[in-house]
Amino acid sequence: MSSARTIVRVELGERGYDVRIGRGVLAELGSGLRALTKAARVALVADERVWGLYGERVFSSLLSAGFRVSPVTVPAGEGSKSWDRAGDVLERLATAGISRDDVVVALGGGVTGDLAGFCAAVYMRGIPFVQAPTTLLAQVDSSIGGKTGVDLAAGKNLAGAFWQPLAVFADTSVLQTLSDEEWSSGLAEVAKCALLAGGESYTWLKDNAERLRAREPDCAPGAVSRAAAFKAGVVAADEREFGTRECLNYGHTFGHALERAAGYGSISHGAAVVEGMRFAAAVAEDVLGVDPGVRAAQEALFEGLGLVRPPLRADPAEISRAMRRDKKVRGGALRFVLLKAPGVWEVATVDEAVVEKRSAEWSDRAGRG
Ligand code: GLY
Repeated sequence: MSSARTIVRVELGERGYDVRIGRGVLAELGSGLRALTKAARVALVADERVWGLYGERVFSSLLSAGFRVSPVTVPAGEGSKSWDRAGDVLERLATAGISRDDVVVALGGGVTGDLAGFCAAVYMRGIPFVQAPTTLLAQVDSSIGGKTGVDLAAGKNLAGAFWQPLAVFADTSVLQTLSDEEWSSGLAEVAKCALLAGGESYTWLKDNAERLRAREPDCAPGAVSRAAAFKAGVVAADEREFGTRECLNYGHTFGHALERAAGYGSISHGAAVVEGMRFAAAVAEDVLGVDPGVRAAQEALFEGLGLVRPPLRADPAEISRAMRRDKKVRGGALRFVLLKAPGVWEVATVDEAVVEKRSAEWSDRAGRG
């Protein structure tokens, strides 16, 4: 096993932290955390599936570093990102005697990271936490940047807090147990970061797309490191999403609406974001007069990565309604992140007529398969 490590720093002053990336970093979580804290106890939060795969490894690493560890398991699946589950986790932190100086470790995908991070943010008005993301999507996106939260019946992510972790441990060896759908969902975010970053990140991804599609393990650290470095830079520039951080919503205006219109669970988040980026690239031609070559280059990247169109139909009127209900609508206008070229983006308000035309076109094409 290679012991190569990449450390990406999220530069946020006294709240700054390292993202440690490489094969086997989960086994170093205990010693790495010991270097950061004098805490006596750790609450190790994981879903039951991830606990079965990696719980013991992290548990032992924490014990060896002298921590007393309280496992807190939750059911696997999106349903755990709920207000009720957060209440249950908070009660269990209290019962385990977790104090203000102790640490919550979130071991798992985005649901676990968001849930455990939110609990850490509100327990005793905020205690330290560590992200140990086990999906590609969580390694390149949700574990970095401090967005935590749970869903409410009224909508996704409606209760949350910005709460930065103490550190992120992204072990790329665990990505081998992901399903193909989870892998592709993560690749969608990797592609999004490369398109927004441009330069070496974009050319590296183009050159390595086929290897990533084939899930060559040697390629994963390079993809995670580049996407994480891009995200870290964006978060450092705009932690609370007043400006630059909005670029991370590339593909999300249409993508979220598609997820909602198609019914959550019928399309993965990543596949929806890819469709969103396809949609935005068409809109960019209408609104900014972007050269069609940009859309073609994006499409070639998606094809290289195996991010094919999902066999999915959704009513364009329902997608438009869902877009208008989205958090990204401001002052009644639909806002899209649009790419002018790899590495060059802009946020634009887009007329209803353009959105409707392109939604109908998307739907026709999806219907043809
Ligand atoms: N996932 C988008 C962000 O962290 O801002």
